[in-house]
Amino acid sequence: MPETIEVKMLNFSQKGDDRGRLVIVEGGIDIPFEIKRVFYIFGSDPDVVRGRHANRRSEFILINVAGTSKVRVVDRNGNEMIIHLNRPHTGVYIPAMVWKDMYDFSPDSVLLVLSSEHYDPDEYIRDFEEFKKGCGNAEA
Ligand code: TYD
Repeated sequence: MPETIEVKMLNFSQKGDDRGRLVIVEGGIDIPFEIKRVFYIFGSDPDVVRGRHANRRSEFILINVAGTSKVRVVDRNGNEMIIHLNRPHTGVYIPAMVWKDMYDFSPDSVLLVLSSEHYDPDEYIRDFEEFKKGCGNAEA
C-alpha cells in the first residue's frame, strides 16, 4: 500500500454465540469519525461501475455486509489500490479527496456505507480530470 494513500482496512469486533454473529461499528471509536449518514447499495449488476467520484469533505467506511464487491481508489498523486470487500466484519476507510469506483458486485452484494457528512451533491467531484488537477481541496 503506498504511503501517500490513507485508505486503510479495518477489522471490526464480532460477538458470536450459538445464535449467530454480531459486528460492532461505533462512530469515533471503531472508525475515525462520527457517523452522520448511512446508505447501502444492492441490486447492482456485476458489470456496473458505481462511484466514479471523490468527495471534498466526506469520509467513508464501506462494508460488504453480504456478498462481495471491489473498490478501486486513486489519490491525487495517482497512487491506486484495489480493495476486495468480502467479509461482513471488514471495512475500508476512505478519507476525503480520494477517487473511488465500486464494481464487480456479486448478485447478493449489500454494500453498507457509513459517512462523516450529510449528503451534499456540491461536495462531490465527478470529473476525474478536475480531481487530478486538485481543484477543490479538502478545505474548499
Ligand atoms: P450516487 O452518488 O450516484 O451513488 P454511488 O456513487 O454511491 O454509486 O447516487 C445515486 C443517487 O442517489 C443520486 O441521485 C444521488 C442520490 N443520493 C442521495 O440523495 N443521498 C445520498 O446520500 C447518496 C449517496 C446518493
